[in-house]
Amino acid sequence: MTELNKIVLKIISNGKGILAADESNGTMTKRLASVNITSSPENRLLFRETLFSSDSMKDCIGGVILYDETINQKTNYGNSIPDLISSSGAIPGIKVDTGAKDLAKSSEEKITEGLDGLRERLNKYYKLGARFTKWRGVYTISKEYPSKLAIHSNAHALARYSALVQESRMVPIVEPEVLMDGDHSAEICLNKTSEVIQKCFEELILHKIDLSGIILKPNMILAGNKSKHQISNEEVSEKTLECLKKSVPSEVPGVAFLSGGQSEIEATENLNLINKNNNTNFIMTYSYGRALQHSALRQWSKDIKNKEATQNTFNHRARMCSLASKGKWSVELENK
Ligand code: 13P
Repeated sequence: MTELNKIVLKIISNGKGILAADESNGTMTKRLASVNITSSPENRLLFRETLFSSDSMKDCIGGVILYDETINQKTNYGNSIPDLISSSGAIPGIKVDTGAKDLAKSSEEKITEGLDGLRERLNKYYKLGARFTKWRGVYTISKEYPSKLAIHSNAHALARYSALVQESRMVPIVEPEVLMDGDHSAEICLNKTSEVIQKCFEELILHKIDLSGIILKPNMILAGNKSKHQISNEEVSEKTLECLKKSVPSEVPGVAFLSGGQSEIEATENLNLINKNNNTNFIMTYSYGRALQHSALRQWSKDIKNKEATQNTFNHRARMCSLASKGKWSVELENK
């Protein structure tokens, strides 16, 4: 077993998943504004530190993805945020892309940037304690999109990023997110997502990536959020498994889904069914941002000094996701 594979398994095995807390300051400002909290470095730290010191970190969270601001911050007790995360047994990770920009020659689509100077930034993050990284490519579905150009250029960037990350002895999360926005059917989401993921692996293999040392972070297969033909949770799990079975090489140890705008319960229930029906060798777990933090953020905004109430809310959510990653979640446990 390689060092990279060991890191992967430590992050996603045994009912653990990833807490995606890597919202950029712009995104975090919108999240905080939605609960009437001022977005200052202190408030962003306070909320995140509250989550990172929760009890459920030990059993449910194998890795935390941080944003550049947070990986450089210190707690009230003077220890660094990566140290706080490591003290619960979880592994600190870092978002290293610099965002999705308009794609030249197809300006309604996006290309994710951040390759310039990446090797040097990775060395700095390794020294700060990071052992895995994230890069998100983003694709929209419409009549003509995602275009071949967007599919190819984002896959190429994800592969070049992954090569630099593995060279720096860290595990790359490869995140091709096909957005749920639109009125397309689940069948179209299945076809487009499969094409996107297959292209990513074609490029990853070309760039000599050790596939046992990556984590794939895809979207689940859903009908577009404006489609009149929504599918059941059971169908989401079946189509998601179908997509991954035909698109992901067997050397990949596991998949950690993004929640992508699903509610907390939807994301939990769908993951639970994916695991109940899992007929692959892949570990299937979560790498949720909103679906792990939504209720906790609401609770925190009622009284930002009440650590216990926020942590209770977060612990419940994390435990439900952990059960779902083993196919052991139920409505009864959710409402207990
Ligand atoms: P969501 O779970 O809120 O989609 O966030 C996951 C993530 O890291 C997006 O890049």
